[in-house]
This record gives sequence, C-alpha cells and structure tokens, in this order.
Amino acid sequence: MTKPASTAGAGLRDVVAAPSRICFIDGEQGILVYSGYNIHDLARHSTFEEVVFLLWNGRLPKRSELDELNAQLVAHRKLPSEIIAMMKAFPKSAVPMDALRTTVSALAFYDPERSDNSLEANQRRALRLTAQFATIVAAIDRIRKGLEPLDPKPELSHAANFLYMLNGKEPMDVEAKALDIALILHADHEFNASTFAARVTAGTLADMYASITSAIGALSGPLHGGANEQVMKMLLKIGSPANVDKFVNDKLEAGEKIMGIGHAVYRTEDPRATHLRKMSEEIGKRQGDTKWFDMSHRIEELVVEEMNKKQKPIRANVDFYSASTYYMLGIPVDLYTPIFAVSRISGWTAHVLEQLGNNKLIRPRSEYTGEMDLKYTPIDQR
Ligand code: COA
Repeated sequence: MTKPASTAGAGLRDVVAAPSRICFIDGEQGILVYSGYNIHDLARHSTFEEVVFLLWNGRLPKRSELDELNAQLVAHRKLPSEIIAMMKAFPKSAVPMDALRTTVSALAFYDPERSDNSLEANQRRALRLTAQFATIVAAIDRIRKGLEPLDPKPELSHAANFLYMLNGKEPMDVEAKALDIALILHADHEFNASTFAARVTAGTLADMYASITSAIGALSGPLHGGANEQVMKMLLKIGSPANVDKFVNDKLEAGEKIMGIGHAVYRTEDPRATHLRKMSEEIGKRQGDTKWFDMSHRIEELVVEEMNKKQKPIRANVDFYSASTYYMLGIPVDLYTPIFAVSRISGWTAHVLEQLGNNKLIRPRSEYTGEMDLKYTPIDQR
C-alpha cells in the first residue's frame, strides 16, 4: 500500500503550497511585501488603483498606464440592470456577504465573453470584477434600506466613489484617503484561506466567477475576514472603556478568543495593524472622541500582556483596528467584511491569473486515520 509522502501539521501551517510572485510575508519579522514593495511604502505613498496594477502586473505603472487602468476601472463600475433587479429581490434581512456571494456568482450569466477562458479574457474579467465589487457592496446597502443604488461618479477615485455610492454624498478627502489606505492594506496576503480557495477552484479550470465565489465564501468566516465585524460587535457590547478590563479578563479566563487578535503567520506585529491603529486614533482625535480607539488599545494591551505571560506572542491583526476605523467612518458593521472583499478582489484575481498562467490541478492527499479491512455485513445483520 502506498502512503502519501508527508503529513502537514494542522491547518497546513508553514506548508509552502506553490511559488508566487505576488506577495511575501515574513511572519517572524512582521514584513509584508507586494511584488517587491514594502506595505509601509505602499500605504504611505501609493493608491489602491496603483496597487491593483502592481498585483496584476508585478511592477508599478507609468503615469500613462495608471491613467489607462483608472479609465478602464471607471468604465466598468456599472452593473447590468438585470443584476440590480435580482438584488432588489433579495430579502431585506440578507447578510451582505451572502448577497455579495450570490451577486458575483450571478454576474457569470451576463459575462459578455462567457465561453472564453483565455488569459486575456480573464484579465478583462479581473478588471470588470474589481470595478464592480464596490458598486455591488454599496448597492446591497442602499437596496436593503429601500434606497435606489446610485450611479458611480467617474471623476472620483475607487475609494471616494465607493463612499459616495454608499452614503449619497461625496466623502471628505481625509475619509476617502483613510478608505484608500485600508483598501491598499487589505489587497493581498499570499495564500490566506480565501485566496487559496480561489486558486484551488481556478486550478480545476472552472471560470473566474466560480473562483471568486469560493473566495467570498471562505472570507466570510469569523476566523478570516469575518473577524472585523466580530471586533466591532465586541466593542459595542463592552460599551465603555471602564468595562474593558473585566470583559477581557473574563474572556481569557473562560479560554475564549478575542477577535482581531492573533494570526496564523505573524508572530509579531501585523504591519497592516500598525497603519490601522494610527488611522483609528487619528480619526477619533479629529472627531473629538477617541473612545473606540482607547477601548481597542486597552484590549490589545491586556491580551498581549496576558498571552506573553503564557509564551504565546499574539498581537492585533488587520481586522482589529479596521473595525473602529470603519465605525468612525459611519460604515454599517455588517459591511466590514464585504469592504475587505472590495479590496481583496484585486489579490484574488491576481492569484487566479497567476494560477491559470501555469496551471496544475491542486489536489493534495489526506492522511487516512480510519479503519481498514473491515468485513462487509449485510444490512439486516448489523
Ligand atoms: N484570543 C485568545 N487566544 C488566542 C487568540 C485570540 N484571538 N488567537 C490565538 N490564541 C491562542 C490560541 O488559542 C493558541 O493557544 P493554545 O496554544 O493554548 O491552543 C495560541 O494563542 C496560539 O495560537 P496560534 O497558533 O498563533 O493561532 P492559530 O494559528 O491557531 O490561529 C487565528 C490563528 C487567526 C485563527 C487565531 O489567532 C484566531 O482565531 N484569532 C481570532 C480571529 C481573527 O482575528 N481572525 C482574523 C485573522 S487575520
């Protein structure tokens, strides 16, 4: 009997599944790199659109190339009217991630080049999907509130246009900038669960809608993208800074996890959390109320201290401070994970294109732990 050559640890931690030129993480040192560029430089100097170009092409764009990409993204922001009609039939109580997953899956019906799975057709698909995700998420929120989805504004950036389509008014520059940075920080993270799900599906040569629908399903879980919503629910439940210590101590004593803390790869500060922590504090200060930042900071302090004592060096992850940041930007809590997807669609599509560029069906083995050689007994004799 032949057995699989090796057994990976639980959750495939530290298993290198394939080469990729898109993203690099050093979990020990807290380094995150998109195609050669450190996330800190990108967060400080770049834009989401520029990062999209980088992830898809492996290099930064020239001015004319960025202008062309911007024009293409703007041109594809609108959704087919049939999709809007379908979205209006969703229950008003639908969970936004469910609505996003169903809508993206249905977009396949209206793909103008449905039967073409070539690399070029998929590049165009990646562009359309990245442009449309923001429109879909804004429309989900407006439709459930009984409002008409708004037409995108071509003169606005991806981040500013999303906030406009969501709130019905153009955001202040600082708000648009905050979201733009959040989109940069969430754009890719190598073989995280949703990206890996997308690559597994793409590896079967199923179409890009199938891959992205798989990814959305994986992202929705509370151990992955769903954590940012759980963080805000926790902050709202705690209610005030005075209640933080007791809440955290009780949770840790009960052996329960604090959402937004810990990471499968980082053993030190998640570099994305560095920016989001600063952003949360700055927005709080500008609004004259740092309560949500203060509470988050105290939770982080307590958990880090407590876990250090147990030799478990866990820190805040990307989801921890994005929760208070989005809350102060007035974004409904159940849109936090869909907004993660508005950014991550760029990374997902980059990975699908990379997978298809050198495809091999992804098919690992399991370590069988069941019984062998059992004697089959007829059903009436069991
Ligand atoms: N709160 C309290 N304890 C935590 C914790 C948290 N958020 N995250 C991890 N731990 C504990 C684990 O229970 C484990 O303890 P044990 O050894 O006694 O079982 C220890 O810290 C080490 O955990 P680690 O191996 O680093 O985590 P993991 O790789 O198994 O899991 C996550 C990583 C992300 C799934 C986990 O940290 C988690 O569930 N975090 C909360 C959800 C979240 O924020 N997800 C978004 C990730 S970007």
